[in-house]
Amino acid sequence: MKGTDMIITQPHSQIPTHTTAPDAVEITPDIEAGKICYFPHLTFTLDPIFSNPASVASSLGGLSAKRKSISYNPQTQHVKGIASDAPHYAAAEKILQDYALFAKTLITTLCPFYNTHLRVGRTSFRPLEVQGRPSSYRKDDTRLHVDAFPSMPMGEDRILRVFSNVHPQGQERIWRIGEPFKEVVSQFFPRLRSPWWKERQLLKMLHITKKERTLYDHYMLQLHDQMKYDLTYQKCAQQQTIAFPAGSTWVVYSDVVSHAAMSGAYLLEQTFYLPFTKMRTPDLAPQRILEQHFSLQDRQNMAIST
Ligand SMILES: [Fe+2]
Repeated sequence: MKGTDMIITQPHSQIPTHTTAPDAVEITPDIEAGKICYFPHLTFTLDPIFSNPASVASSLGGLSAKRKSISYNPQTQHVKGIASDAPHYAAAEKILQDYALFAKTLITTLCPFYNTHLRVGRTSFRPLEVQGRPSSYRKDDTRLHVDAFPSMPMGEDRILRVFSNVHPQGQERIWRIGEPFKEVVSQFFPRLRSPWWKERQLLKMLHITKKERTLYDHYMLQLHDQMKYDLTYQKCAQQQTIAFPAGSTWVVYSDVVSHAAMSGAYLLEQTFYLPFTKMRTPDLAPQRILEQHFSLQDRQNMAIST
């Protein structure tokens, strides 16, 4: 791992036992400032049944080129992406459940400020290689982007993610990290269009979105798409390459950190949501940063529709 100011390295080889333990250093200010908290020695141990990537990828047969992960919803305890009669189903389910607990313990211990406001989202296991997977530019996560989802508006929620590279043969996961969010926004905002009349309401009515997009959601999704669409930007933007070794864990607000997953397989990921008003410093939220760019017309439309 190359030293970089975007990365805050933490020494832990295990999660502190409680929030007041001497090694329970709060990471909230760093992640809110758009840094990646990196734990090179904090390892989530994968069941040995998954030690042969080739056979596991084929025996988890439910995975297709279209579907890139097996996911688990801790609220409903429902596993998606793998048939319940597939080999290793039970082991995969257990990994997801154990990882959800691992990530939740990590965040509640090192981000005690968030306390009860944090909502646990999906857990996902991505055993397949990232590199060389065909996809449309919008779905191509090897291009620099900030996270925003077409059907799932975030509204006031931040997207906080915990990742662990669990590759059984020690393959690194390679990311590119781009510019700070404010710089990305100031470059791209002038080319983002305002919503069409009733666009956000219509998308909700047609069930294209799960709930109505806020203006923030509208612009975030465009930002995500425009970043990925612009190949010159992908090549020329200020960026650095980071290699996360197998056995490491990292924590990041993926809605502000411009990132691209270039290669690697066997990743575990846990998503959390937090209302930005519950952050230590809400002014650092992408909601607040984007809002400063809204036009008068946007604001008037927002007032009419609320
Ligand atoms: Fe992403």
